[in-house]
Amino acid sequence: MQLTDLVHDHLSQQLKPGDHALDATAGNGYDSTVMATLVGPEGRIIAIDIQASAIDTTRTRLKAADCLVQADLLVADHSQALASLCSTYAQTMSAITFNLGYLPGSDKTIQTEPESTLGALRAASDLLKSDGLLLVVAYRGHDGGQTEATQVADWMQTIQERGWTVKSHEPIVTGRRVPPILWVARKA
Ligand SMILES: C[S@@+](CC[C@H](N)C(=O)[O-])C[C@H]1O[C@@H](n2cnc3c(N)ncnc32)[C@H](O)[C@@H]1O
Repeated sequence: MQLTDLVHDHLSQQLKPGDHALDATAGNGYDSTVMATLVGPEGRIIAIDIQASAIDTTRTRLKAADCLVQADLLVADHSQALASLCSTYAQTMSAITFNLGYLPGSDKTIQTEPESTLGALRAASDLLKSDGLLLVVAYRGHDGGQTEATQVADWMQTIQERGWTVKSHEPIVTGRRVPPILWVARKA
């Protein structure tokens, strides 16, 4: 099973109609659309991406799934966006996803960076309600990917020490390819 399918499984078990959820790296909108379908028109999702083209693709995918009405779409850096959302949405989110790295088939120089990723993760921990789920996928094969993943792993350790439940999953891959990693963190 691919890590993205595992993310969608966790979202399916977590999200109920009426919930709030946030996708911090909307990309092509796959995670956003799964979230929006699960929370339904009485719920709310916020999808963020630094690239306007990614938000356009996400909007098209949400519309095709008849889920646009329950979505707010933001072209922004997720660190800044999540920090400013804290005043309105603190402790309201049932699930937040991060799919780090670059968008396949797009400009590979536009990729998540450790400093903004960590800022966004800290804000995400405030936005989640108790028992909320934080799902982070990191890719380690591209330049900077391993460094970012190591910093995320260190941050996961700090929230575990604060009482969160943190599990990680790494698929078995053949050859020398470094596998991606998924962290599944549940807020205390
Ligand atoms: C691996 S892709 C996400 C794929 C997405 N989850 C999907 O379902 O298609 C990573 C995304 O993060 C975005 N990104 C990179 N840096 C960002 C930042 N600082 N703030 C928000 N989005 C960022 C990229 O533009 C890219 O679309």
